[in-house]
Amino acid sequence: MSTPHNQAQVGEIAQTVLMPGDPLRAKFLAETYLEDVHQFNAVRNMLGYTGTYKGKKVSIMGSGMGQPSIGIYSHELFSQYGVEAIIRIGSCGALIENVHLRDVIIAQGACTDSNFAHQFELPGTYSAISSYDLLEKAVAHAKEKNVNYHVGNIIASDIFYHFNQGTTQKWASMGCLGVEMESYALFATAARLGKKALTLLTVSDSLVTDEQTTPEEREKTFTAMMEIALEIA
Ligand code: HPA
Repeated sequence: MSTPHNQAQVGEIAQTVLMPGDPLRAKFLAETYLEDVHQFNAVRNMLGYTGTYKGKKVSIMGSGMGQPSIGIYSHELFSQYGVEAIIRIGSCGALIENVHLRDVIIAQGACTDSNFAHQFELPGTYSAISSYDLLEKAVAHAKEKNVNYHVGNIIASDIFYHFNQGTTQKWASMGCLGVEMESYALFATAARLGKKALTLLTVSDSLVTDEQTTPEEREKTFTAMMEIALEIA
């Protein structure tokens, strides 16, 4: 059985899936870190792979950019393929001064400017949080590996190019550490389906200082984050 967006058969995908935004990064990571790699999806080039890491079965699949995209793929993985946990491994912009380029943010929760949660018809505002179990394990590995990490809230925005100045800084005033575009939909989908999710982010740019990492630097710091994700998978 396949879905409109995933040609995998049930059983081809591991219980834990690591999701970078970029499908070509999924391919690179699977080929670099996993053994006995098998590609399970190529629909819309949203490449997905299953292999083993230290003997554990793990899958890596692209999520695409934005909440609608990760909303589709995570929903199908959780509801159709028996996936129990999704760990997003992405990049973000730093919103406050003491979050530096190349640091890792372990997202405890995600705010949003998206209306993704309107579908649940809740009588208020839904707070999307990550799995404490995965969060605790990620923090332990980040400490062990001496990674510069931060744990806290982020803003998952629907907008990359804000026309009005200062919009993301308002989220910073509420303690958000960084901005990305996927985690609220991922956390809400996992919660609704009784599954686990976590987001690990490498800081690729700063909205405070306007600094950016080079692609080479991003590659290197991505490694630390990737290793944390693989250890807790
Ligand atoms: N905004 C949104 N998403 C991002 C950013 C950003 O500045 N940097 C990396 N992902």
